[in-house]
Amino acid sequence: MLGLSGPGLITFLAGLWLIPIPVTFFGYTMYDLYDPEGRPFITTELELLAQYDVIVVGAGSAGAVITNRLSEVKEWNVLLLEAGVDEPEMISNAPALAAYLQLSPVDWQYKTEPMPTACLGLEGGRSNWPRGKVLGGSSVLNYMLYVRGNRRDYDQWEEMGNPGWGYDNVLHYFKKSEDNRNPYLAYSPYHSSGGYLTVQESPWRTPLATAFVEAGEQLGYINQDINGESQTGFMVAQGTIRRGSRCSTARAFLRPIRLRPNLHVAIQAHVTKVNVDPVSKRAWGVTAFIGGRSRVILASKEIILSAGAISSPQLLMLSGIGPKDHLTEMGIPVIQDAPVGENLQDHIGYGGLAFTVDQPVTLVSPRYENLEAALDYSLYGDGPITVLGGVETLAFVHSKYSNVSLDWPDVQFHLIPASVASDGGVTLRHALGVSDYMWNSVYKELSYRDTYTALPVLLRPKSKGLIRLRSAHPFVHPYIYPNYLAHPDDVAVLVEGIKIALAHSVTPAMQQFGVHLHAKPYPQCVQFGPFTDNYWACCARHYTSTIYHPVGTCKMGPVSDPESVVDSRLRVIGIHNLRVADASIMPKLVSGNTNVPVIMIGEKASDMIKQDWGIPINPIEPPPPPKTTHV
Ligand SMILES: Cc1cc2nc3c(=O)[nH]c(=O)nc-3n(C[C@H](O)[C@H](O)[C@H](O)COP(=O)(O)OP(=O)(O)OC[C@H]3O[C@@H](n4cnc5c(N)ncnc54)[C@H](O)[C@@H]3O)c2cc1C
Ligand SMILES: *[C@@H]1O[C@H](CO)[C@@H](O)[C@H](O)[C@H]1NC(C)=O
Repeated sequence: MLGLSGPGLITFLAGLWLIPIPVTFFGYTMYDLYDPEGRPFITTELELLAQYDVIVVGAGSAGAVITNRLSEVKEWNVLLLEAGVDEPEMISNAPALAAYLQLSPVDWQYKTEPMPTACLGLEGGRSNWPRGKVLGGSSVLNYMLYVRGNRRDYDQWEEMGNPGWGYDNVLHYFKKSEDNRNPYLAYSPYHSSGGYLTVQESPWRTPLATAFVEAGEQLGYINQDINGESQTGFMVAQGTIRRGSRCSTARAFLRPIRLRPNLHVAIQAHVTKVNVDPVSKRAWGVTAFIGGRSRVILASKEIILSAGAISSPQLLMLSGIGPKDHLTEMGIPVIQDAPVGENLQDHIGYGGLAFTVDQPVTLVSPRYENLEAALDYSLYGDGPITVLGGVETLAFVHSKYSNVSLDWPDVQFHLIPASVASDGGVTLRHALGVSDYMWNSVYKELSYRDTYTALPVLLRPKSKGLIRLRSAHPFVHPYIYPNYLAHPDDVAVLVEGIKIALAHSVTPAMQQFGVHLHAKPYPQCVQFGPFTDNYWACCARHYTSTIYHPVGTCKMGPVSDPESVVDSRLRVIGIHNLRVADASIMPKLVSGNTNVPVIMIGEKASDMIKQDWGIPINPIEPPPPPKTTHV
């Protein structure tokens, strides 16, 4: 045996059992250090430098991407400033429990102002606007649906005077981020694998998921990849998840680069102002509230605002860049008159279209709130807890106002094997802000029953809203005026969407489950006669559900367009060394969910910034994929 005997053998054997101790110890620490999914190193207040080459404000869907790509440039020192904390583990990663993070400390907890045209059945007439205040931003709170929008959206951006933003160009950036783990899509020319952002279907589904698709086929729609060649159709959703858990942009883009020596990441660092020289109009630094005090940090090259569609316009206005009269009224010295905070657009739908289901096939509590589901999720990344924010199937359909031959659908469905009453009104009702009156008179009786919801969403709203400062104090939330359903065409399209959802519910594929519309009329709308178009319009004005996609408040466009805040290279018009790159730059809301489009904006912005500073960009090379042991 190994040529050992006597004392040698004893020494060897004695040593052998000791080996696991150091191996475990060093192995663990090494693994922890190099683990591509290990948490980012947080830069303390004392370690912060006085000056960086680039400062990125906000670690959300766009900011995390930009931080990653710009810190690829070894000669640049990059600082990322995030107002929130590091990602909480567990709950935020469990896809089906996404809504539980709303109204928690990692949510900014915005609320809209009341309006006469919508949200009438919500608490105080206000819509809750959750936004992530955490590394990863709203990608830590979102429902993870992977949707890119329609190719015509981007071609339209280009036609509006934004060269380089057409579909053929942005497709490259969608693919650059992507690591698609469903083989049937990974090999499609519209997708790719090997990027930082993991994309896959939920590994588990209810029997309704495929029935929703089949019912769509019975309505004449096809089952196809809604992110591929054409958009119209039905599909079991893909999500930004990895092994059944949330893949936020912090997980995807920040954790793998934790060892870069030229990167600093500061959390609980609330930026209160961008400092701009009023004469040269050059942005030279930011003021941030860190560790209980205000401090100024300089940027020698650029400052990039990625604080999202509410905070980026707020920060610009606090810094003297915004509508002249409004800033003057708030007592803020005007550096640049600009239409900041205007052009606000969001996706809303009718959230109250609930159907009862005669078979036990839905995500109703307490059926799946048990140890088995918990173990399935925590051990195998599988089971009902992996359903993407409760949404299983997506569809893009045409109302009668839409030209079918253009393949530019005007209504999207989120098909959800549950309703606001599935948890007896414990959590979702409050996250959605459903008023007690509405709950008691219509939905309470569905508590703990098998139900599903078809949520028709208006894809290209004509109504536009506004964000305005409430105070010149940076910690006070701004006013949000979404102006939902103010334009009559928006109501008309949404009503058609509701009617398509009703038609979908009576197909044989849905009827095999014994599906019935929950036909309890809204007391506030019964005067219109159920179920007329006017009745449905009234319902939509009461149970108006945001899909959480506010965009457009720092509109990208040519300098000649009086609505533009940034140019097509995302530079703030009239100001040097300052860009905005996040959801706020969208000139027009895309026809789909916004997370992946914002990640694309981050990728494209990074290349433009590198180009503008003479750094060669490599259009082909994808980043190395994070090494993971199992898929
Ligand atoms: C509940 C919910 C569900 C959603 N579901 C989906 C979905 O299923 N699919 C989809 O595609 N999209 C979804 N979205 C939308 C999508 O997540 C957002 O469009 C996207 O995350 C916006 O990215 P952003 O970079 O513009 O902003 P954010 O991701 O919000 O990032 C902004 C970051 O800036 C930080 N910040 C703000 N102000 C300051 C400051 N003054 N100083 C320092 N830091 C600051 C914030 O804390 C935050 O981290 C959802 C959103 C929500 C809220
Ligand atoms: C629909 O779009 C097609 C293709 O562009 C066009 O030829 C047709 O005129 C449009 N129809 C209507 C009613 O606008």
